[in-house]
Amino acid sequence: MEWVKSEDGSYTAFSSEYNEHYHSTKDGALNESLKKHIEPAFLCHKDKKHLKIIDICFGLGWNTLATLYYRDIYFPDTTLEIVSPELDGELVASLVDFPYPEIFAPYKTIIKALSQEGEYKDDRTSIRVEITDARIAMRELIGSWDVCYQDAFSPSSNPALWTREYFADVARLMGEEGVVTTYSIALATRLALYENGFHLYINSGEGYRSATIASKMVLEPFEQVNMEHKLRCNPDAVSLRDDSLR
Ligand SMILES: C[S@@+](CC[C@H](N)C(=O)[O-])C[C@H]1O[C@@H](n2cnc3c(N)ncnc32)[C@H](O)[C@@H]1O
Repeated sequence: MEWVKSEDGSYTAFSSEYNEHYHSTKDGALNESLKKHIEPAFLCHKDKKHLKIIDICFGLGWNTLATLYYRDIYFPDTTLEIVSPELDGELVASLVDFPYPEIFAPYKTIIKALSQEGEYKDDRTSIRVEITDARIAMRELIGSWDVCYQDAFSPSSNPALWTREYFADVARLMGEEGVVTTYSIALATRLALYENGFHLYINSGEGYRSATIASKMVLEPFEQVNMEHKLRCNPDAVSLRDDSLR
Protein backbone atom coordinates (compact mmCIF):
# COMPACT_ATOMS: atom_id res chain seq x y z
CA MET A 1 0.00 0.00 0.00
CA GLU A 2 1.42 3.35 -1.06
CA TRP A 3 0.83 6.21 1.39
CA VAL A 4 0.28 9.61 -0.16
CA LYS A 5 0.59 12.99 1.56
CA SER A 6 -2.52 15.09 0.89
CA GLU A 7 -2.68 18.87 0.73
CA ASP A 8 -3.50 19.46 4.41
CA GLY A 9 -0.39 17.44 5.34
CA SER A 10 -2.31 14.33 6.41
CA TYR A 11 -1.75 10.98 4.72
CA THR A 12 -4.09 8.97 2.56
CA ALA A 13 -3.39 6.06 0.20
CA PHE A 14 -3.91 5.07 -3.41
CA SER A 15 -5.84 1.93 -4.28
CA SER A 16 -4.59 0.27 -7.46
CA GLU A 17 -7.62 -2.06 -7.33
CA TYR A 18 -10.10 0.83 -7.55
CA ASN A 19 -7.64 3.22 -9.25
CA GLU A 20 -8.57 5.91 -6.74
CA HIS A 21 -7.21 7.66 -3.71
CA TYR A 22 -8.93 6.91 -0.39
CA HIS A 23 -9.52 10.65 0.07
CA SER A 24 -9.49 13.78 -2.01
CA THR A 25 -5.78 14.68 -2.04
CA LYS A 26 -6.78 18.30 -2.65
CA ASP A 27 -9.20 18.58 0.28
CA GLY A 28 -6.87 16.54 2.52
CA ALA A 29 -7.69 13.33 4.38
CA LEU A 30 -8.21 14.88 7.82
CA ASN A 31 -9.91 18.02 6.48
CA GLU A 32 -12.24 15.98 4.25
CA SER A 33 -13.18 13.69 7.10
CA LEU A 34 -13.93 16.57 9.48
CA LYS A 35 -15.74 18.84 7.03
CA LYS A 36 -17.75 16.31 5.03
CA HIS A 37 -18.64 13.83 7.77
CA ILE A 38 -17.79 14.54 11.39
CA GLU A 39 -18.70 18.24 11.79
CA PRO A 40 -22.12 18.00 10.07
CA ALA A 41 -22.92 14.80 11.98
CA PHE A 42 -22.25 16.42 15.36
CA LEU A 43 -23.99 19.64 14.31
CA CYS A 44 -27.16 17.69 13.47
CA HIS A 45 -27.01 15.81 16.78
CA LYS A 46 -25.50 18.39 19.11
CA ASP A 47 -27.95 17.64 21.92
CA LYS A 48 -27.60 13.84 21.85
CA LYS A 49 -25.71 12.26 24.72
CA HIS A 50 -25.25 8.94 22.90
CA LEU A 51 -24.46 8.76 19.19
CA LYS A 52 -24.80 5.62 17.09
CA ILE A 53 -22.71 5.83 13.91
CA ILE A 54 -22.34 3.55 10.90
CA ASP A 55 -18.97 4.20 9.21
CA ILE A 56 -19.08 2.94 5.58
CA CYS A 57 -16.27 1.81 5.04
CA PHE A 58 -13.45 1.75 7.63
CA GLY A 59 -10.61 2.07 5.06
CA LEU A 60 -7.72 3.92 6.74
CA GLY A 61 -9.90 4.64 9.75
CA TRP A 62 -9.92 8.42 9.37
CA ASN A 63 -13.66 8.88 9.92
CA THR A 64 -13.79 6.79 13.07
CA LEU A 65 -10.63 8.34 14.54
CA ALA A 66 -11.63 11.91 13.63
CA THR A 67 -14.99 11.21 15.32
CA LEU A 68 -13.18 10.30 18.56
CA TYR A 69 -10.97 13.38 18.28
CA TYR A 70 -13.92 15.72 17.64
CA ARG A 71 -16.02 14.18 20.41
CA ASP A 72 -13.18 14.45 22.92
CA ILE A 73 -12.64 18.14 22.13
CA TYR A 74 -16.20 19.44 21.71
CA PHE A 75 -18.58 16.82 23.16
CA PRO A 76 -16.63 15.01 25.89
CA ASP A 77 -19.83 13.84 27.61
CA THR A 78 -21.20 12.13 24.51
CA THR A 79 -20.82 8.38 24.37
CA LEU A 80 -20.21 6.74 20.99
CA GLU A 81 -21.18 3.46 19.40
CA ILE A 82 -19.57 2.94 15.99
CA VAL A 83 -19.90 0.00 13.62
CA SER A 84 -17.78 -0.04 10.49
CA PRO A 85 -17.79 -2.70 7.77
CA GLU A 86 -14.66 -3.07 5.62
CA LEU A 87 -13.77 -5.70 3.01
CA ASP A 88 -10.01 -5.35 3.27
CA GLY A 89 -8.85 -7.13 6.43
CA GLU A 90 -5.16 -6.85 5.48
CA LEU A 91 -5.49 -3.08 5.25
CA VAL A 92 -7.09 -2.83 8.70
CA ALA A 93 -4.38 -5.09 10.17
CA SER A 94 -1.70 -2.81 8.70
CA LEU A 95 -3.04 0.39 10.30
CA VAL A 96 -0.87 0.10 13.43
CA ASP A 97 1.91 1.45 11.20
CA PHE A 98 -0.11 4.14 9.42
CA PRO A 99 1.34 7.68 9.69
CA TYR A 100 -1.56 9.31 11.53
CA PRO A 101 -1.12 12.89 12.76
CA GLU A 102 -0.02 13.72 16.31
CA ILE A 103 -3.62 14.63 17.27
CA PHE A 104 -4.46 10.92 17.03
CA ALA A 105 -1.70 9.95 19.47
CA PRO A 106 -4.26 9.45 22.32
CA TYR A 107 -5.92 6.74 20.19
CA LYS A 108 -2.89 4.45 19.75
CA THR A 109 -4.41 1.79 22.00
CA ILE A 110 -7.69 1.98 20.09
CA ILE A 111 -5.96 1.74 16.69
CA LYS A 112 -4.05 -1.32 17.91
CA ALA A 113 -7.21 -2.99 19.25
CA LEU A 114 -9.16 -2.32 16.06
CA SER A 115 -6.42 -3.51 13.75
CA GLN A 116 -5.70 -6.65 15.78
CA GLU A 117 -9.06 -7.62 17.29
CA GLY A 118 -11.56 -5.60 15.26
CA GLU A 119 -13.13 -4.07 18.33
CA TYR A 120 -12.59 -1.65 21.18
CA LYS A 121 -14.72 -0.82 24.21
CA ASP A 122 -14.47 1.50 27.20
CA ASP A 123 -16.98 3.51 29.28
CA ARG A 124 -17.52 6.15 26.60
CA THR A 125 -16.74 4.35 23.37
CA SER A 126 -17.66 1.16 21.60
CA ILE A 127 -16.25 0.44 18.13
CA ARG A 128 -16.61 -2.67 15.98
CA VAL A 129 -14.83 -3.06 12.64
CA GLU A 130 -16.40 -5.94 10.74
CA ILE A 131 -14.34 -7.50 7.96
CA THR A 132 -17.22 -8.13 5.61
CA ASP A 133 -19.11 -6.81 2.60
CA ALA A 134 -20.95 -3.64 3.63
CA ARG A 135 -23.97 -4.77 1.61
CA ILE A 136 -24.31 -7.86 3.78
CA ALA A 137 -23.52 -5.90 6.96
CA MET A 138 -26.25 -3.35 6.18
CA ARG A 139 -28.79 -6.09 5.47
CA GLU A 140 -28.00 -7.84 8.76
CA LEU A 141 -27.57 -4.85 11.07
CA ILE A 142 -30.49 -4.00 13.32
CA GLY A 143 -31.44 -1.03 15.47
CA SER A 144 -31.90 2.64 14.97
CA TRP A 145 -28.79 4.66 14.09
CA ASP A 146 -28.13 8.41 14.11
CA VAL A 147 -25.45 8.80 11.46
CA CYS A 148 -24.11 6.98 8.41
CA TYR A 149 -20.78 8.18 6.98
CA GLN A 150 -21.21 7.10 3.34
CA ASP A 151 -17.56 6.96 2.29
CA ALA A 152 -17.13 4.12 -0.21
CA PHE A 153 -15.01 4.61 -3.32
CA SER A 154 -16.79 6.59 -6.04
CA PRO A 155 -20.09 5.42 -7.60
CA SER A 156 -18.31 4.66 -10.88
CA SER A 157 -15.72 2.32 -9.32
CA ASN A 158 -17.68 1.00 -6.30
CA PRO A 159 -21.30 1.08 -7.61
CA ALA A 160 -22.73 -1.63 -5.31
CA LEU A 161 -22.50 0.83 -2.40
CA TRP A 162 -24.50 3.55 -4.18
CA THR A 163 -27.64 1.83 -5.46
CA ARG A 164 -31.25 2.54 -4.58
CA GLU A 165 -31.49 -0.90 -2.95
CA TYR A 166 -28.35 -0.31 -0.87
CA PHE A 167 -29.71 3.02 0.35
CA ALA A 168 -33.00 1.29 1.20
CA ASP A 169 -31.05 -0.74 3.77
CA VAL A 170 -29.35 2.43 5.03
CA ALA A 171 -32.74 4.19 5.26
CA ARG A 172 -34.19 1.30 7.29
CA LEU A 173 -31.34 1.66 9.80
CA MET A 174 -31.56 5.42 10.17
CA GLY A 175 -33.76 6.61 13.03
CA GLU A 176 -36.25 9.50 12.76
CA GLU A 177 -33.35 11.95 13.06
CA GLY A 178 -30.82 9.92 11.08
CA VAL A 179 -28.39 11.67 8.72
CA VAL A 180 -26.20 10.31 5.94
CA THR A 181 -23.06 12.32 5.11
CA THR A 182 -21.26 11.82 1.80
CA TYR A 183 -18.74 13.52 -0.46
CA SER A 184 -20.80 12.55 -3.52
CA ILE A 185 -22.82 15.33 -5.14
CA ALA A 186 -23.84 13.18 -8.13
CA LEU A 187 -27.52 13.50 -9.05
CA ALA A 188 -27.77 9.69 -9.24
CA THR A 189 -26.58 9.44 -5.61
CA ARG A 190 -28.94 12.13 -4.42
CA LEU A 191 -31.79 10.53 -6.35
CA ALA A 192 -31.16 7.10 -4.78
CA LEU A 193 -31.35 8.76 -1.34
CA TYR A 194 -34.40 10.86 -2.29
CA GLU A 195 -36.23 7.76 -3.53
CA ASN A 196 -35.69 6.32 -0.05
CA GLY A 197 -37.37 9.21 1.72
CA PHE A 198 -34.41 11.44 2.56
CA HIS A 199 -34.34 15.24 2.30
CA LEU A 200 -31.16 16.39 0.55
CA TYR A 201 -28.89 19.23 1.65
CA ILE A 202 -25.72 20.88 0.36
CA ASN A 203 -22.72 20.84 2.66
CA SER A 204 -20.40 23.58 1.44
CA GLY A 205 -17.80 25.85 3.00
CA GLU A 206 -14.26 27.11 2.72
CA GLY A 207 -11.43 24.72 2.03
CA TYR A 208 -13.34 21.72 0.69
CA ARG A 209 -15.41 20.74 -2.29
CA SER A 210 -19.17 20.70 -1.73
CA ALA A 211 -20.71 17.52 -0.36
CA THR A 212 -24.16 16.12 0.43
CA ILE A 213 -26.13 15.51 3.61
CA ALA A 214 -29.23 13.35 3.46
CA SER A 215 -31.60 13.54 6.39
CA LYS A 216 -34.84 11.98 7.58
CA MET A 217 -35.69 15.24 9.38
CA VAL A 218 -35.71 18.81 8.07
CA LEU A 219 -32.31 20.42 8.71
CA GLU A 220 -32.30 24.16 9.38
CA PRO A 221 -28.56 24.92 9.13
CA PHE A 222 -28.10 23.57 5.59
CA GLU A 223 -29.33 24.67 2.15
CA GLN A 224 -31.82 22.18 0.75
CA VAL A 225 -31.33 20.63 -2.70
CA ASN A 226 -34.51 21.23 -4.69
CA MET A 227 -34.87 17.70 -6.06
CA GLU A 228 -38.18 18.41 -7.85
CA HIS A 229 -36.46 21.17 -9.81
CA LYS A 230 -33.37 19.06 -10.52
CA LEU A 231 -35.55 16.24 -11.83
CA ARG A 232 -37.55 18.61 -14.05
CA CYS A 233 -34.25 19.85 -15.51
CA ASN A 234 -32.86 16.29 -15.86
CA PRO A 235 -35.87 14.16 -16.85
CA ASP A 236 -33.61 11.21 -17.82
CA ALA A 237 -31.86 11.07 -14.44
CA VAL A 238 -31.97 7.63 -12.81
CA SER A 239 -30.51 6.24 -9.62
CA LEU A 240 -28.11 3.30 -9.75
CA ARG A 241 -29.99 -0.01 -9.36
CA ASP A 242 -28.77 -3.42 -8.27
CA ASP A 243 -30.02 -5.02 -11.49
CA SER A 244 -27.83 -2.69 -13.57
CA LEU A 245 -24.72 -4.09 -11.82
CA ARG A 246 -25.23 -7.66 -13.07
C1 LIG B 1 -12.74 5.60 0.17
S1 LIG B 1 -12.19 4.25 1.11
C2 LIG B 1 -12.82 4.58 2.74
C3 LIG B 1 -12.04 5.61 3.49
C4 LIG B 1 -12.34 5.60 4.96
N1 LIG B 1 -13.72 5.98 5.23
C5 LIG B 1 -11.39 6.44 5.77
O1 LIG B 1 -11.85 7.33 6.50
O2 LIG B 1 -10.19 6.20 5.71
C6 LIG B 1 -13.27 2.96 0.59
C7 LIG B 1 -13.10 1.64 1.34
O3 LIG B 1 -14.20 0.82 0.96
C8 LIG B 1 -13.78 -0.53 1.02
N2 LIG B 1 -14.82 -1.31 0.30
C9 LIG B 1 -15.10 -1.31 -1.03
N3 LIG B 1 -16.19 -2.08 -1.30
C10 LIG B 1 -16.61 -2.56 -0.09
C11 LIG B 1 -17.68 -3.39 0.32
N4 LIG B 1 -18.54 -3.90 -0.57
N5 LIG B 1 -17.83 -3.67 1.63
C12 LIG B 1 -16.97 -3.16 2.55
N6 LIG B 1 -15.91 -2.36 2.22
C13 LIG B 1 -15.74 -2.06 0.93
C14 LIG B 1 -12.42 -0.50 0.41
O4 LIG B 1 -11.68 -1.63 0.79
C15 LIG B 1 -11.88 0.82 1.00
O5 LIG B 1 -11.14 0.56 2.17
